[in-house]
Amino acid sequence: MLILGIETSCDETAAAVVEDGTKILSNVVASSVKMHAKSGGIIPEVAAREQVRCILPVVDAAIANCKLKIENLDSIAVTVGPGLIGSLLVGVETARTLAYTWNKPIIPINHLVAHIYANWLSPSSLPTPDTQLTSQPHPQFPAIALAVSGGHTDLVLMKGHACPPKPEGRRRGKIRWLGGTRDDAAGECFDKCARVLGLGYPGGPAISTAAEKFKISNLKFKIELPRPMIESNDFDFSFSGLKTAVLREVKKLTPTTHPRLTTHNSQLTHYLSFEIQEAITDVLVEKTIRAAEKYKVKSILLAGGVAANSRLREKIKSSIINHQSSINLFIPPPALCTDNAAIVASCAFFNYKPINWQKISTQPGLSITGEV
Ligand code: KG4
Ligand code: ZN
Repeated sequence: MLILGIETSCDETAAAVVEDGTKILSNVVASSVKMHAKSGGIIPEVAAREQVRCILPVVDAAIANCKLKIENLDSIAVTVGPGLIGSLLVGVETARTLAYTWNKPIIPINHLVAHIYANWLSPSSLPTPDTQLTSQPHPQFPAIALAVSGGHTDLVLMKGHACPPKPEGRRRGKIRWLGGTRDDAAGECFDKCARVLGLGYPGGPAISTAAEKFKISNLKFKIELPRPMIESNDFDFSFSGLKTAVLREVKKLTPTTHPRLTTHNSQLTHYLSFEIQEAITDVLVEKTIRAAEKYKVKSILLAGGVAANSRLREKIKSSIINHQSSINLFIPPPALCTDNAAIVASCAFFNYKPINWQKISTQPGLSITGEV
C-alpha cells in the first residue's frame, strides 16, 4: 500500500511516500527554523506563512522523487494535531483538496503518535543507528514509548498499534498513557535553557554541541543542577524548575544587568550545557527504564526531536546493557526523530482509519491518547 504523508504541525513543511508503513520511497522536509532562529523562537504567524509558501513544492517533490503515478497512490495521510493552528490548517486543507481531486481516502493522524512510528521505518538511505540494541526488524509489543519533542513529553505503554483498523479485543486504542510532563516539555527545557545561555534556537542541538566542548580538565565551577522528580514514584516529569535553576546560576556568576552569558564565559557555557543535558537525560532514562521493568515490555521506543540527542541515545543503551536486560531498544536515525512526513504515512498504514474528506478538521490541542 502506498501512502502520501503530509506534515505541517509546526515549522517544518513535509511530504513523504511510504510503502506498507515501513519503506520510505521519498521524504522531503522544508524547514523555516532559520527564520525562527533570528527571533529566538517560533512566531506562529511566520511559520504559517512559510507553510503556505512551501506546501505545494514539497508535495510535488515527494511525488517526483519516487516517480509516483497518482493512480498507484492508495491514500493520503495528514497530521491534524497537536500543533499550531495556522500551520496545521495548511496541511489539512491541502490534503483535503488532493483527496477530493484525486478521489483518494484521507486518514487523519495524531502527530505525537506518528513520532513513535519512526521506529517502524527502514530508510534505505539512512544508516541504522549504532545506538539500536535489537535483532528484530520491527518493534514487538508490549512496548514502552518515550515521546519527547518541543511541546510534549509522554511515556506510554503500547500493547498493540495505537488504533488498529480492526478492533483487537475490547479496548479500541492500544496506547495507555503512563505519565508526562507537568509543566515544560523536555525539548522546551532545552530551548529555554539555550536562550538563557545565549545559544540560539533550536536549543537542543545547540546545547548538545556546546556540551561536547566541555572538558572535565577545564572544570573551574561546581554547579549541580537538580534532577527533577527522578525519585518520584510515578512516570511524570517536571522541567520548568531546571530552567529557573540555570537562570539563577547564570545570574550569580555573571553579575551584569543582562542575565545571559557572553563568549567571555564560554567555559561556563560549555559546562552548564553539559550539566543541563545530563540532568534532562538522567530523568528521561531513569523513568523509561523503570516503566519498561514494571510493565515487563519487549521493546523500548524513543521518539520525537529530543530523541535525536546523542547523550540520551548513549545513556539509554548503556542502562539496558547494565541492567542485563533483554529488552529490544529502537531509536530512529536523527533525521526521523525530528518532524517529517514519513512518520505520518507509516502511522496511517498501521492505524488505517480513512474518513470522508469533508469531515477532516484540525485538532490543535490533541493529546497522545486523543482520538482523531
Ligand atoms: O519533534 P520535533 O522536531 O518538533 C515538535 O514536534 O516539537 O522536536 C523539536 C524539539 C526542539 O525542542 C529541539 O530543541 C529538540 O526537539 N531537539 C533536540 C535535538 N534535536 C532537536 N533536543 C536535544 N538534542 C538534540 N540533538
Ligand atoms: Zn514533532
